[in-house]
Amino acid sequence: KKSEAWSARFSEPVSDLVKRYTASVFFDNRMATFDIQGSLAHAEMLQAQSIISAEDYAAIQKGMAQISAEIESGQFEWLLDLEDVHLNIEKRLTELVGDAGKRLHTGRSRNDQVATDIRLYMRNAIDQILELITQFRLALLDLAEKHSDTILPGFTHMQVAQPITFGHHILAYVEMFGRDAERMLDCRKRVNRLPLGAAALAGTSFPIDRLRVAKTLGFEDVCHNSLDAVSDRDFAIEFCAAASLIMTHISRMSEELIIWMSPRIGFIDIADRFCTGSSIMPQKKNPDVPELARGKTGRVNGNLISLLTLMKGQPLAYNKDNQEDKEPLFDTVDTLVDTLRIFADMATGISVKPDAMRAAALQGYATATDLADYLVKKGLPFRDAHEAVALAVRTCVERNQDLSDLSVEELQVFSPLITPDVFAVLTLEGSVAARNHIGGTAPSQVRLAIARLRQQLSK
Ligand code: ARG
Repeated sequence: KKSEAWSARFSEPVSDLVKRYTASVFFDNRMATFDIQGSLAHAEMLQAQSIISAEDYAAIQKGMAQISAEIESGQFEWLLDLEDVHLNIEKRLTELVGDAGKRLHTGRSRNDQVATDIRLYMRNAIDQILELITQFRLALLDLAEKHSDTILPGFTHMQVAQPITFGHHILAYVEMFGRDAERMLDCRKRVNRLPLGAAALAGTSFPIDRLRVAKTLGFEDVCHNSLDAVSDRDFAIEFCAAASLIMTHISRMSEELIIWMSPRIGFIDIADRFCTGSSIMPQKKNPDVPELARGKTGRVNGNLISLLTLMKGQPLAYNKDNQEDKEPLFDTVDTLVDTLRIFADMATGISVKPDAMRAAALQGYATATDLADYLVKKGLPFRDAHEAVALAVRTCVERNQDLSDLSVEELQVFSPLITPDVFAVLTLEGSVAARNHIGGTAPSQVRLAIARLRQQLSK
């Protein structure tokens, strides 16, 4: 069967193994709607420029409408012999409308065609991802709001550091995912440029109107160099880097959810629909979703490295290497979209156990800094205050006591500046309420931050 578009040049058919090796249709056909969209915009321009006739354009439109319907209903027959999504669709178009179908590729190459398809696909994916990040952030804001006053220990080096509010802790993630959204939005600007018109690499001898096609397809601009347009995939690399950072943030959150859910810690529970049991240990309820998300971060990072490595040795302009950009890119989109969707839902299924959090915050001398600050406010230089409190903590550790268990007289051994008003600063509530400035953990600041973020998100 002679099906290759370039077959007149060849004296023997491609071997079956090579056919399978070079074909991309079974993964690039997910770009079919964007391929058709791009072809229609190209044909519309060819017609407007009198490069093809109005009749040909009408026939192409009609044929593409039928092809879209066939693809949507699953009737379209994808053929390995036709290599990729572009040739499959073009071949079917010619079957349906004859010569008009054969004219579609005038002034175009698969090189600028595929670059256009990827950009349309990615623009769509980015918009979906941005929407999912917003939903996730809104769910986290609800959780933070419910727990603006809930106190838990904040950790550094996995050791109790200072009391914080759970709302404040969750807002840290809302900030991270906010920057992630900014990065995606910024990447979108560079994705949203039209390569069509670059043809194979040098442009075309036909009197095309690239700005017209850009406008039809909603691109902000055209790619201004034909060699660059068909050969670079930096926009996909950038997207994968932004995706890796999102997954990195999700992975850090996952790590915390897993720790918090451990019965040893018991700070939270995650709704049953996100967990599984053990086939042998009846007591188990495992945090599978966060664990898998942490694991999937590895594959998304791997995809980024794949694309970087794919690009680094390529001379200008197009090389077939670039066909390998799709699977890592698609896998990153799929993994990210599923993960964000699940996490937006899971955020609503986190139940907090304030008593366990509080009990943990009462251990580990979380208010030692507050005692040092108290002495500073009474005139002691900070370094001296730090030393006095360190001695007090050491004594408490030896006696297995908390700072607030000591009497005023016992505390005065470490500094005569201590008076009975000290006990107010040794409470968890006093400690968090005192951190009352922009970015601080005080419940009033958490509520202000939530209001600010809600306003941002409603825009
Ligand atoms: N399937 C190819 C890709 O993904 C389309 C471009 C092929 N161009 C070529 N000259 N072989 O990159």
